[in-house]
Parts: sequence; structure tokens; C-alpha cells
Amino acid sequence: MAVPATRAGATSAGPEPTATILPARRLAGTLTVPGDKSISHRALMLALVAEGESRIEGAGDGADVRSTAGIVAALGASVERTDDGLGGAAYLVRSRGAGGLLEPRGTLDCGNSGTSLRLFAGLLAGTPVAATLDGDASLRGRPMARIVEPLRAMGAGVVAAAGDRPPLTVRGRRPLSAIDWTTPVPSAQVKSAILLAGLGAEGTTRVRERVATRDHSERMLRARGIAVRSTMDGGGAMVVEIEGGTPVRAMDERVPGDPSAAAFWLVAGAIHPDAELRIGNVGVNPTRRAVIDLLVRMGARLEEAASASPGPDATAGDIGEPVADLIIRSSSLRGIDIGPAEVAAAIDEVPILCLAATQAEGRTTIRGGGELRHKESDRLAGIVAGLRALGARIEVEGEDLTIDGPVRLTGATTDSLDDHRLAMTFAIAGLIATGHTTVGRPASAAISYPGFFHDLERIRA
Ligand code: S3P
Repeated sequence: MAVPATRAGATSAGPEPTATILPARRLAGTLTVPGDKSISHRALMLALVAEGESRIEGAGDGADVRSTAGIVAALGASVERTDDGLGGAAYLVRSRGAGGLLEPRGTLDCGNSGTSLRLFAGLLAGTPVAATLDGDASLRGRPMARIVEPLRAMGAGVVAAAGDRPPLTVRGRRPLSAIDWTTPVPSAQVKSAILLAGLGAEGTTRVRERVATRDHSERMLRARGIAVRSTMDGGGAMVVEIEGGTPVRAMDERVPGDPSAAAFWLVAGAIHPDAELRIGNVGVNPTRRAVIDLLVRMGARLEEAASASPGPDATAGDIGEPVADLIIRSSSLRGIDIGPAEVAAAIDEVPILCLAATQAEGRTTIRGGGELRHKESDRLAGIVAGLRALGARIEVEGEDLTIDGPVRLTGATTDSLDDHRLAMTFAIAGLIATGHTTVGRPASAAISYPGFFHDLERIRA
């Protein structure tokens, strides 16, 4: 080929404002995706409030996890980070525990990371520290009332900017009052913020979710000696209870591969006419695997195999997160109906599922995607604009998306809106679209997957 397959921005760190992706004749190979972003954030935060040493292997090394690591250090822990040689990071955190946090000198910079901001707000609420959490323009536009209200109800001082947006100043109090809180929208970040605050509360803090969300916080707190119970109430809501006042134990752990990152390769393999890809050591926690199950329902030839590499329950300590190798082959997809509970379970994978739907026979409906308007960008608007530019038949009405397929995509100019998941979705589209596909602001991929464009070139056969 006369021109390189991906030009400008082929490395995500490059300064170029666009990346151009050319179609691939064939996709083949084995990939290792970054460590799970959600688990990496939580492992660092729990290491901060645990007295002693915690080792974290295989952590995601995107900008978001680095923001969390920086804040852990700013709050007084010693944080040593090394490259693990596999594109991830290993951390050694030494901390004096929740009672020994230092008042940070300046603002705690969460960058683009909503998980950092919301979970640290909860964590700090139950400590004797005052701190201001802030972030980039995207984060400053995201709603925080959902955590401000319960944290205030527990007795923490929380001051937000106009419209309950960041920056957020949290004045912690110990002990906090336990609350019984029903979350207004399905959100693992809100649930986790309240559970982390609950560590510093007197008695039992309860969070009720009408739609269950990812349960990493619950699993990881249990593994560190905290009593956390999950049950269903009479009305079908998930109830998570945490007992306050018990110190968090330091522990070592290995982070599984991120299913939200694996999803890009699963869809690439499924929609490309000549593909076979293996993605090693991916987390398949039941509350995160919806994208796998939805793709299988669409007809994807997706196989789960025992992981060849050591999982999170190997030597590094058991955090109870199942892993598998995933093998994907070219598939004939069909349209399906995806309801609000499935949208919540696959919230970060909706953009790439929309791309899959453009190649599926018939209509795919995605109902109840309103939360996508409050992510790193308005993802409903961004996905519709980008996929339409490529020729997709996609409509949005209120919170619902309708996609009709299959449609032959043609290379065009797309814009990631500086949103990592949109950048990666449009780049994958470029592998099957005719001609050149341009992705605007591709460097955003490094928020969760710094090696994404490198991997994309590696699997071209
Ligand atoms: C996350 C929860 C989800 C998800 C985000 C990570 C977490 O956000 O979109 O990428 O780690 O708890 P919401 O809780 O806002 O849905």
C-alpha cells in the first residue's frame, strides 16, 4: 500500500489533530487490552485508605488512571509507578491509611475522569480532610448533584459550582451519618461514592439501585475486609449495604483486561469480512459482560476460552473477578432490541455497539440511553453525527436510537469530540469503510487506551 494504513496520529500521543484510517484486507492476531479502568481507579483509591503497602499489577495506564494516581500521591501516599512491559502499569502504594491523609496543597486535578472526581468526593467525605476536586472542560460540564445530595445528607460539607458542576470542594467529617439512598439514575459512580463515604459513617449505609450497575467496589471492599452485602428488595431493586468504621486492609492484586476496551476489537472482528482475533485475559464479571452477551445475541461468532495468562485470582491476590480469553471471527449480525437495563449494563460500549448495528441485518433499537448525554461528551449526538457522516442509517429520538442495516460505510470525516470512546469507534469503522476515514481529535483515545492506534495497525494482516 502506497500510504501507511493509519496516517497522522498513528501514535495516540502525537500532536496531529486527525488520524486517517484505511480499510484492512484482513484482521488477525492476539491482543492484550489495558487493565480495567474501573478496577484500576478503585485499587489505587483503596490503597490510599488502607494502612500499609498495596501492589497493583496490570493497571490501566490511560490518562484517567494516572489522574487518580496523582491524587493518591497528593493526599499523602507514596506512589511508585513502573511500566509493566505489557503496555500497562504496576503500582506500589504505601499509605498511612484513612486517618493519615494529608490536606492537599492545591486543587486535585481529575483531568477528564468522572470516576476520579465522583469516587474521591465520596472517599474524602468521611475523612478529616478538605479538598477541591476539579477537571477539564468536559468534566466541568458534567452533573454532580447526584453525588452532592447524598454526601450532604451524610453530613459532609460539599460546595459545587453553578448548576452542581465541578469544581467541588469537599469538607470531610468523621463519623458521617449513615443513609438509605435510592440512586436517581443507574450509576456505579454514584453507588461507589456513597459506599466509600459509608466507610467513614456510623452504622449501615444503604444504596438502592432500580437497575443494577457494575459491582467492582463491592467485590474489592469485601476482599479488603469490609462487610458489604448485596440483596434484592421486594420491589426488585438491588440493595447494597456497607458497615462503617472498619479499617480497609492493604492487599495486592492483579487487574484484569478491560472489557470496555476489548469491545472495540470484538466489534472489529465481527463486522470485518475476514477476521480472527484473540483478546487475552479480559474481565468477564457478570455486571460488565453485557457487551459480550449482546454481540452473541446479534449473532457474533464469539468464543470464550480459559485465559492462558494468570488471572486476578493468581499469586497477586483474589479480588474475585473472573477472566477469559475472547476469540472473535467474522460474523453475520442481525439487529436486536436493547432495553434500558441492558443499556445501563453496557453503558460504555453503546458507541461501538452502534457501529456493529450498522452492519447487522434489520433494525437495532437502543432504548433509554439518556445517560449517554452526560458522558465525556454528548455521546448520543456524537455517535449519530459520526456514523451518519460514514453513511449509516441512524436516528435519535429523545433517549432512543434506531439503526437500520446493513449499510456499506464510506470513508468520511468524523469528530471524536475529544471523547475516547468515539475516537476508537470511528477508527474501527475506518477498518471496514471504503476509502479514507478521518478521525478528528484521535489523541483522546489515550484517556483509556494509549496503545490503541498501535494495536489497530498490528492486527492488519
Ligand atoms: C464507571 C461507571 C460508569 C461508566 C464509567 C466508569 C465506574 O459511569 O460510564 O466509564 O468506574 O464506576 P456512571 O456511573 O456515571 O454510569
